[in-house]
Amino acid sequence: MPRLACQGGILELPTKGLVPREEPLVVGRNLAIGRSPATGTAAHCHGMHEDWLRRWAEGNIGFHRHDVHPALAKHWQPDRGTVLVPLCGKSVDLRWLAERGHTVVGVELAERAIADFFAEQGLQCARQPGALPAWTAAALPITIYQGDYFALTGLACDAVYDRAALVALPPERRAAYAAHTDTLLRPGAFRLLVTLDYDQALVAGPPFSVPEAEVRGYWPELERLERQAANHDAPPKFRAAGAVLHEAVWRSRGVGRT
Ligand SMILES: C[S@@+](CC[C@H](N)C(=O)[O-])C[C@H]1O[C@@H](n2cnc3c(N)ncnc32)[C@H](O)[C@@H]1O
Repeated sequence: MPRLACQGGILELPTKGLVPREEPLVVGRNLAIGRSPATGTAAHCHGMHEDWLRRWAEGNIGFHRHDVHPALAKHWQPDRGTVLVPLCGKSVDLRWLAERGHTVVGVELAERAIADFFAEQGLQCARQPGALPAWTAAALPITIYQGDYFALTGLACDAVYDRAALVALPPERRAAYAAHTDTLLRPGAFRLLVTLDYDQALVAGPPFSVPEAEVRGYWPELERLERQAANHDAPPKFRAAGAVLHEAVWRSRGVGRT
């Protein structure tokens, strides 16, 4: 059984059969989840959360990369300030950003993912209880809030890195995600976003197809730097359906080209 050293004790984590905890949905100040049909009902959100927790419990995490995302290494520009990483999973990109000089704030629903991140990175951490418990590394400036991204408030980050976060959400949640992300950033914050697009009629998400026009509608200040075929990395369901997957990289306009 993996053991994770955290301030105040050792957390023991079963490798299999982790039972998703029945947690009530936490509702953020800025969003009334469950009241607006446009953002999905509370039951719908809860169902999606259960699906993600089940994936983590079963190790069904094909989206996880063992290396730093090439778009991050190639196109990231700032080297100081606080970076928001929504729906961060256990991405090694968190460490890359912290080692570059940033204070990193991740948000992740699954306790399993957060515990695995610190254990796999060999980082001791302290876990501060709260509505969204905050897991903070001892040796690097990385904090991961555990819970629903939409419940996180009160930040003014200097930059955001979104890889597989917007595309993890179904269409009816994405406008709320875009608006909520904006509330957590200071004006003019640097943004790097990695999206996927494919024929949504052929395959069901996640990951969902997010068309170019939708991204431009949320953030007209972004420019698309790259769009490349990504079938080599695609889950088997894409190959089975004959869907052609593209990955696009978006960045704040007006920063130097790399
Ligand atoms: C496709 S994965 C991407 C993870 C990470 N960005 C990466 O590149 O590996 C999406 C992640 O978002 C988490 N997630 C889904 N909905 C969430 C929510 N409402 N709040 C916080 N995390 C969420 C899932 O548990 C999952 O780890």
